[in-house]
Order: sequence, then structure tokens, then C-alpha cells
Amino acid sequence: MTKVTIEPSGIEVEVPEGETLMQAARDLGYYWPTACNMECRCATCFILVIEGADNLSPMGRSEREALLNQRGRNALDEPVRLACQVQVNGDVRCRKIGVRVD
Ligand code: FES
Repeated sequence: MTKVTIEPSGIEVEVPEGETLMQAARDLGYYWPTACNMECRCATCFILVIEGADNLSPMGRSEREALLNQRGRNALDEPVRLACQVQVNGDVRCRKIGVRVD
């Protein structure tokens, strides 16, 4: 089990192996911003990775396309990932506004 710390709220989410960050947060009762309900289309769920980028699963084609389509061609220049797609293999610290108790 790995831990993701979300700034600025300080919420900590334990992410079971094989589960996405967003699903793990939802399972713990947190609201996570979305406009596509985890279908990898809206990019609203994005996180800005502060520490531990190497502990995230590799970016897949659909995640890459959603980021480029929704955030523009420079989207991949930032350490941005989609919480509905990313799995976690070690501790991570990231920034995401809007995550709160549901
Ligand atoms: S929730 Fe829409 S892309 Fe992640």
C-alpha cells in the first residue's frame, strides 16, 4: 500500500496495488473533480506531481491524448498526470485543488 499526499489540503490517500489514485480516493469517501466520471476524456482530474513522479505508472496513450486534447500541446511539459488513470508504486506528493470529503 502506498501513500499519496495531496496539497494544499494535506489529504493522504492510501492506494492499493492495481488501483488508480482517483478510485482509491473515492473509495475512502473523498470527492475528486471530474467531468467525465473517470472515462479519460475531460482531464479535470489532473494532478501536478511535486515528488515521486517515478513512483507513478507509465503514461498510456489515452491519458496522453486526453491531456493534449484538453490542456493543449504544452500539457506534457509539466509534471501533470490524470488521477483517473495513474497507478502508484511508491509514495507521491502532488497538488490538486478541489479534493475534499464528499
Ligand atoms: S476524470 Fe475525466 S479524464 Fe480523469
